[in-house]
Amino acid sequence: MLGRTQFGGSVLVRQQIISDDCRVPHESFESSMRPTAMTFTHSFFEFVMPQWCTGNVVDQKIWSPGLFTITVATDEVAPFLPGQFLQLGVFPDGHDGDEDALINRPYSVASPHGSELEFFIVTVPDGELTPRLEKLVAGSTLQVSKKAAGSFTLKKSPEKKHLWLLATGTGLAPYIAMLRTEEPWERFEKIVLVHGVRLASDLAYTEELKAYETSKPGRFSLVQSLTREDSDDALRGRIPELLSSGQLESTASCEINAEDSSVYLCGNPAMLDSMEEALGQRDMKKHRSKSPGNIVLERYW
Ligand SMILES: Cc1cc2nc3c(=O)[nH]c(=O)nc-3n(C[C@H](O)[C@H](O)[C@H](O)COP(=O)(O)OP(=O)(O)OC[C@H]3O[C@@H](n4cnc5c(N)ncnc54)[C@H](O)[C@@H]3O)c2cc1C
Ligand SMILES: NC(=O)c1ccc[n+]([C@@H]2O[C@H](COP(=O)([O-])OP(=O)(O)OC[C@H]3O[C@@H](n4cnc5c(N)ncnc54)[C@H](OP(=O)(O)O)[C@@H]3O)[C@@H](O)[C@H]2O)c1
Repeated sequence: MLGRTQFGGSVLVRQQIISDDCRVPHESFESSMRPTAMTFTHSFFEFVMPQWCTGNVVDQKIWSPGLFTITVATDEVAPFLPGQFLQLGVFPDGHDGDEDALINRPYSVASPHGSELEFFIVTVPDGELTPRLEKLVAGSTLQVSKKAAGSFTLKKSPEKKHLWLLATGTGLAPYIAMLRTEEPWERFEKIVLVHGVRLASDLAYTEELKAYETSKPGRFSLVQSLTREDSDDALRGRIPELLSSGQLESTASCEINAEDSSVYLCGNPAMLDSMEEALGQRDMKKHRSKSPGNIVLERYW
């Protein structure tokens, strides 16, 4: 339980360490928090001790066994930016309404702010929460944090000509939200979305993404890659290997370089590390307001 003892204008709380690349190490949530005296801010409490509302599941789409999108209706979530995440929570059996027992994790919202929010989720075998989320169907309820968090948004992007959105697995979610808004289309000449998964059946949102190739001719490329089977419609190999072999850029007809590219990376942390290293060899580094670069990251674990 988090402390809330007040000391004058400050409160004694626990602090979650969030790194520059937006890492939210929920798995070690307790161990990543340490007691510290901090000035009270509303947003800080909202993040560490979310206020919850009840969301109603209005739709569940199964892309393949264990890979699904749930659509959750709620009017209580405050406006947020595409790319931000919310906490989703489920009460374990016998603990309905007991917030101390709530099992919760962060999830990127796969849709812009609205009264219905999409979440694109993979079931982690033996995971604590995802097997429970998988069981939610239309009519089920779950807990949703009222306030989104995270800085994996287009506001973080340097001003460049080309936007590269690279994801493994469910790391696709924040990009679906971003692409459904006007901002990326207004700011970038060309957008390349790279989605790397194990099997063709793990490729989700393909129809929606391919529609951008038609509606935004010459301005959008979808590059899908599979690591565990061949397909005529996708590249074969992990994303960092496809960068070094040149296949990524030739398929997208676009070059990744420090001059022109804003590169977003989301999903498997090992992919993020390999890509950061590979991009570093091209003089590209994390973008920070005081130290401009090209790369913006979101680690899922
Ligand atoms: C900012 C942020 C946003 C996130 N957004 C999403 C999202 O949109 N969709 C989503 O499915 N997950 C997302 N995650 C991961 C999510 O928070 C949980 O970690 C995940 O759903 C596993 O929860 P669990 O309780 O079932 O597993 P746990 O018992 O907590 O096991 C965690 C382990 O599962 C594996 N794992 C976690 N997430 C994934 C994943 N997405 N793909 C593959 N393996 C994974 C890792 O090995 C991790 O160590 C996000 C994480 C962060 C930090
Ligand atoms: N349909 C589904 O996707 C599905 C369904 C049910 C359960 N699950 C479970 O969900 C968990 C997550 O599976 P997932 O496939 O979504 O996520 P994942 O394991 O992160 O794999 C997604 C993609 O990232 C690649 N990858 C892994 N390490 C990489 C690295 N160092 N550099 C670059 N790319 C890398 C993988 O390639 P490799 O193939 O080479 O590892 C794969 O193509 C697993 O436990 C899985 O069993 C998945």
